[in-house]
Amino acid sequence: MKLHGFLYFLVVSFQLVHSIPHNFTSLFSFGDSLADTGNFLRTGAVTFPSISRLPYGMTYFRRATGRCSDGRLVVDFIADALGLPFLPPYLGRRQNFRRGVNFAVAGATAMDPLALREMGVDRFLWTNDSLSRQLKWFDQLKPSLCKSSQECSSYFDRSLFVVGEIGGNDYNYAFFSGMTAAEVTSFVPRVVQAIAAAVEELIGRGAVHLLVPGNLPVGCSAAYLTLLPSQNSKDYDPRNGCLKKLNVFARYHNALLLSALQHLRSAYPRVRITYADYYGAVIRFAHSPRHYGFAHGALRSCCGGGGPYNFNWTARCGHPGARACVDPSKYVNWDGIHLTEAAYRLIADTILRDLQATHS
Ligand SMILES: *[C@@H]1O[C@H](CO)[C@@H](O)[C@H](O)[C@H]1NC(C)=O
Ligand SMILES: *[C@@H]1O[C@H](CO)[C@@H](O)[C@H](O)[C@H]1NC(C)=O
Ligand SMILES: *[C@@H]1O[C@H](CO)[C@@H](O)[C@H](O)[C@H]1NC(C)=O
Repeated sequence: MKLHGFLYFLVVSFQLVHSIPHNFTSLFSFGDSLADTGNFLRTGAVTFPSISRLPYGMTYFRRATGRCSDGRLVVDFIADALGLPFLPPYLGRRQNFRRGVNFAVAGATAMDPLALREMGVDRFLWTNDSLSRQLKWFDQLKPSLCKSSQECSSYFDRSLFVVGEIGGNDYNYAFFSGMTAAEVTSFVPRVVQAIAAAVEELIGRGAVHLLVPGNLPVGCSAAYLTLLPSQNSKDYDPRNGCLKKLNVFARYHNALLLSALQHLRSAYPRVRITYADYYGAVIRFAHSPRHYGFAHGALRSCCGGGGPYNFNWTARCGHPGARACVDPSKYVNWDGIHLTEAAYRLIADTILRDLQATHS
């Protein structure tokens, strides 16, 4: 009996992780550096040139691909699980995009740069290729994907749209230009509105399967821990060493996003929208890093130029004075802002289980 139960458990867990949710034949991705597979690099990457060189890409590709990590991203693991090729960047060499394409651009914001500029948060803006521009690219591409409404409908019935993570940069730019948490909190509804509007536009274009990731626990990010430190030990969560206020902030964004998605689900009952809980997936690492194989904890970055979290603004990963650790799979954080392939793989495993539950 016991053995049977155990075998059954094995079979079920195997299916959960490895069965292909739905039969998706194409994948479209929108977002920022958490999902970019090479677009920003194609624009010249002048505001972040180090991603065009090793150690970016050291783990899997063994060359810099424009991914802001040592290796593969969540969207790569999703593509792989769906039996699809790694997503080509839209700005890359022209090719057939019928099995999917990636519009995500490192540094991209959910809100239009003009609106951010009006609020005075354009100082660090890396790119103008915000979410609305990425949607325009999709519109330009669409006629090459399908023609008649019947053809488009059967094509998009088998397409997965990943919208995000996006919005994190709207906040990064604001926090790093010196805005207070209260000021940044006041524009969260506008950021969420921009994401919900993009999801709704895609639904209008025919999307029926959407995956929308939320924000990471930014209070655990080596960059935030270094750039916005506190003298008051009460500001740090004793369970994980993360900055409490910033994690409350990330959860606030996620709560508003969830409620906007709930609203869209009621408005479009035929459409399946899965929320991808990046926060929940990553906070586990901060609580018990060793359990997930992160021998060096969850807060120190692998690649950096010193300091308590190995993040040094003047010696960032890829710059003189910084170097990468020997084994990035033992770290959650790659360069202070972005995560390692090992972390992205575990996030993807969680997300794929959620996808399986909603889109099978
Ligand atoms: C997916 O494809 C497999 C094999 O081609 C088929 O057996 C299955 O019924 C399909 N499932 C859906 C949901 O279309
Ligand atoms: C974005 O657009 C503004 C206004 O056109 C321009 O001044 C700025 O240089 C652009 N930024 C980037 C990173 O291309
Ligand atoms: C940060 O990097 C600079 C330049 O390499 C170096 O002078 C400085 O000591 C580093 N700071 C820390 C805390 O390691």
